Amino acid sequence: MKKGSFIGLFLCFTVVVVSLLSACTNAEEMKYKQYVIDGQALYKTHCANCHQLDGKGLAGLYPPIEGSDFLAKNKNLIICAMRNGLQDTITVNGKQYHQPMPANTQLQALDVAEITTYIYSTWGGEKAITDVKAVEKILKTCGDK
Ligand code: HEC
Repeated sequence: MKKGSFIGLFLCFTVVVVSLLSACTNAEEMKYKQYVIDGQALYKTHCANCHQLDGKGLAGLYPPIEGSDFLAKNKNLIICAMRNGLQDTITVNGKQYHQPMPANTQLQALDVAEITTYIYSTWGGEKAITDVKAVEKILKTCGDK
């Protein structure tokens, strides 16, 4: 093979690899964005009544999600709570809450994953997807088969 055509082939190969890689990143990025958009819509329907659209909650009754110090430390528990509810006394930003959060068995694992991605991206400082596979695993620890 001539040196010139070898270099040509090599360049061609490099271009293909680079464009494949960026197509992958774009697909991941698109999936993340879609999760956030769908998660926001689901949050409005299923969560905002109590926690409010702005995530600030309702004084004394419903804890805030925005700025919550409970969020980062209790991700698995929160994922389970969306499905199964939560009847506990919890402390969020130094305040105690003891109203029950109702179960929502309508929510599929994908719904929970999208809502989780939305709330953790918006108020939890995470800029990453919480994938449906991860959520399925966590839901299995609290009752899912
Ligand atoms: C009927 C009102 C109500 C609905 C609807 C509701 N929650 Fe809650 N949520 C609560 C209450 C009350 C608590 C505290 C529960 C406790 O003290 O055991 C709570 C706790 C939480 C917490 C942990 C504390 C914090 O603020 O960091 C998160 C996160 C949360 N809810 C997210 C959600 C999400 C997401 C949805 C929708 C899928 C949802 N909640 C639906 C009332 C509600």
